[in-house]
Order: sequence, then structure tokens, then C-alpha cells
Amino acid sequence: MVISSAIGDSQSSIQSTFASRYVTHCLPKFRMPDNSTPKDAAYQIIHDELMLDGNPRLNLASFVTTWMEPECDKLIMDSVNKNYVDMDEYPITTELQNRCVNIIAHLFNAPCGDEETAIGVGTVGSSEAIMLAGLAFKRKWQNKRKAEGKPFDKPNIVTGANVQVCWEKFARYFEVELKEVKLTEGYYVMDPVKAVDMVDENTICVAAILGSTLTGEFEDVKTLNDLLTAKNKETGYDTPIHVDAASGGFIAPFLYPELEWDFRLPLVKSINVSGHKYGLVYAGVGWVVWRNKEDLPDELIFHINYLGADQPTFTLNFSKGSSQIIAQYYQFIRLGFEGYKHIMENCMANAQMLSKGLEKMGFFEILSKDVGVPLVAFSLKDSSKHTVFEIAESLRKYGWIVPAYTMPADAQHVAVLRVVIREDFSRSLAERLLGDFEKVMKEIVELPSRIAKKMADVAAVIDEVEGGEGAVDETPEGAAKYLKKLVDAEKKISGIC
Ligand SMILES: Cc1ncc(COP(=O)(O)O)c(C=O)c1O
Repeated sequence: MVISSAIGDSQSSIQSTFASRYVTHCLPKFRMPDNSTPKDAAYQIIHDELMLDGNPRLNLASFVTTWMEPECDKLIMDSVNKNYVDMDEYPITTELQNRCVNIIAHLFNAPCGDEETAIGVGTVGSSEAIMLAGLAFKRKWQNKRKAEGKPFDKPNIVTGANVQVCWEKFARYFEVELKEVKLTEGYYVMDPVKAVDMVDENTICVAAILGSTLTGEFEDVKTLNDLLTAKNKETGYDTPIHVDAASGGFIAPFLYPELEWDFRLPLVKSINVSGHKYGLVYAGVGWVVWRNKEDLPDELIFHINYLGADQPTFTLNFSKGSSQIIAQYYQFIRLGFEGYKHIMENCMANAQMLSKGLEKMGFFEILSKDVGVPLVAFSLKDSSKHTVFEIAESLRKYGWIVPAYTMPADAQHVAVLRVVIREDFSRSLAERLLGDFEKVMKEIVELPSRIAKKMADVAAVIDEVEGGEGAVDETPEGAAKYLKKLVDAEKKISGIC
């Protein structure tokens, strides 16, 4: 075989050092190549490109599982060619999904007997699960309003402003107004009193989060249930609760069994959980379970028979892989209650150790709570000279991927870093991360303030755009004021919002 010496245009073609042993031409990036590529070369080319991805085990931004046992990896590969939707052809896979739904429903204290079938479905993740739960609430509410002869064209849903983006997607895609309870500095979850105040006759449900994505904190579902029960009684409404337990659903039952957040509370009608987060399965599985059959309107369930027997389906997508469902079942029987409990306890102990270590450094204020999802969310005590974004950038040098973000309204001036503790984040990794944090902070403290420089740079722009004061006030309040002006000025310059 001739070894390629062709040097293509790297913008439009792919070259691979090692694959050049096998291929004689560069591959176009954005068009299908005219000819086939030998399998070992195709493998090498893609393998080489993927080397530039981050290391999933060092990705502390994500809740999603990055390690499973080799036995489960094998089961995943064994079933990777099975389409889950072919239920008649793969009845055992269907049976395993049904067992998983029942296991989860019991874990969440659904009021169904041991011999009864729980109502729920496996999904691609919590986002799909939330779309389905939201649709069920919307349809139930509409049916009730129609029966009462009342308008049913302005449904709304009440959530905290800290909801994950999937709730905004649900609202936009399915035309439901999202009424968000604003956050305040120091209080980063939905206030149940304010949430219940916002409920009106058009509210299809209040969504509470068990494990806020931003800080891991559990929202107070019990108080919400009690306040909403009183409001329903007083007004004659029938407003239910959905619990978004994407992360917390596989934490609370093991670490806080006494905490009432699930179907023990009468108004909780449906719950979603991500199998691929603390359910300990790789990306691609979520679950939604309903309290009772009546909570899932039958008209949302489709029945198909062309694949064999009558099959009920209630998912947004039709086809999907079976592997993740099989992997979830593996984790349930492999670990059992005891195994999940040990893993969650260990994650929590590592989170607490990391939290204490960071606090001890003196630069950070810890925002995450002791009870919640095992993660550490923290902000800089003094962000007048440096920002959490600089810290996140510097940590990348050491291979760590730690996200930095600002809080939603009305706490958008608070910027945080968040480290998610997963099962594969060991104590020794936590110690190493602390060591690297120390190095980064030392470097950063010695650096000239980028904020001051940037403020000085834009002061002139602000002068020009607004005819304002160009002088830089270096107090924290002054810095915050100038940062805001800076963002506004940059928006004016670039037109980007
Ligand atoms: C509270 C919450 N809800 C929903 C989601 C979306 O979950 P998924 O990625 O499983 O779709 C997330 C993801 O982080 C989350 O934290």
C-alpha cells in the first residue's frame, strides 16, 4: 500500500498520523468520501480525533456515570444490537424494563401492592421523562377544564428559577407558561410559600426539584405539599406536584430514608429520575413513574401491533437501544439496597472532605448543603480581582473539568464553581484536586487582576457609548457595578445578547 504524503486542507479534510500507514488520501470532513476506508484506518482516524476530548473520569461537571463494571460493559455490548421498541421480539428486555419500573416505584413509596404493576416507563433521560410527565399533567388539566366548560388555553407550571433547562424546553415545546419563583442571594432553591402563592386555576402542576442542578440542595417537598393542600382546599383547585428527582431520586432513599419527598406525600403524582446519574448507568436512561393509573391519561398511550402483539408505548421517540435498560437492571440486582447505600455514603463522605478542604483554603464560601446531592458548589468570597471563570480555566491545565456559572434570576450576580462527586471520584482524586486547587489559587493570587484591566479597557468604551464616568472604583461594589456595565457595553458593541 502506498503511504500518503498528501497534505490536505485541514479545514476541510481529516488527516491522521497513524492512519497514514493505511490510507493514501485525506478524508473530506463534511462530505461522504467517494471511496471506502479500510476498517483499521477508519478506527485509527476516529480514535486519534477523540483523543482531544476531555477525560470523562476527570469531568467533574457532569452527574452522568462514567464507570461501570466490566461485566456490565459486556452485557451492554451483548445487547447493543437490540431495539428496545421491538417488545414482541425481545420480551425479556421488556420484562427487565418493567421490573426496573416496579423497583423504582417501590423505592419511591408508590402506593402499589407487591403483586400490582407500577405505572412508569424507561426514557432516554430525565428530560424525556419530564416531557412525558408534563404532558400528562397538561392533558389531565385540559380534560378537567373542558368538562367544567372553562377555558383551557393558558396552562402554566410553577417552578423555581433554578430548574434545569429541560423544564424551559417543556414549556416552550408544549406551550405551557413557565412561572418561575425567583431566587435570592443565599437562597438558591424554590421557596414553597412563594410557589404556592403563584398557583392559579391554570396551574397544571408545581415542579419541585430533589437535588438542584446548581447547588445539589433538596427543595422542601413536604412543606410544598402541606401548603398546596391548604390552598387546594381553600380554592377548590386540584393542583398536583411533580418531583424532578433527576439526581436525588437515587440519593434520598439510601441516605435520608426518613425524608418525605416522594409518593408518601399525597399531592406527588409523578416523579422522574435519571438512571444515568446516581442510578449508576452510562448516559441514555431515565425513568418516570406515576402514582396511579389515573394520573396518566390513557389517550397519551399509543398502541401498536405491527411488531407482533399489542404494545402500549408512551415515549417521545420510538426506537432506542436496549443496553441501558439492561445495565440498569444489572445495577439493581448487583448492588441491591446495601450496595447503593454504600456508594452514596462514600460519595457524600468524599464531598464533605472536599468541601472542608476548600473552605479551609480561605478563598471560598461553600453554597452546597450537608443534606442533598453529593457535590460541592462554592463561590469566591472576594471576586473583585479574580473570577471563578479564571479558576475553572486554570484547573483545565491540570486536566480537571470544573464548571463555573452564574446563578439564575434574581441571584445572577453570584458566580459559582461546582464539583460533582460520582462513584468513580475516589478519595485520592479528591486529595489531588485539593492540591491542584491550592496551586491554582496561588498562581491566580499572584496574577494581576484581569478584571481591573478589563474594567480599565472598557471604561473608555463606556465613556464613548454612554458618556459615563471612566474612573475605576476598585471596591467589590464598584467592581460589580463595572462588571455589569462591562457586559452591557460589550453587548452594545457586539450586538450579542
Ligand atoms: C434537576 C435536573 N432535572 C433534569 C435534568 C435533565 O436530565 P437528563 O440529562 O437525564 O435529561 C438534570 C440534568 O442535570 C437535572 O439536574
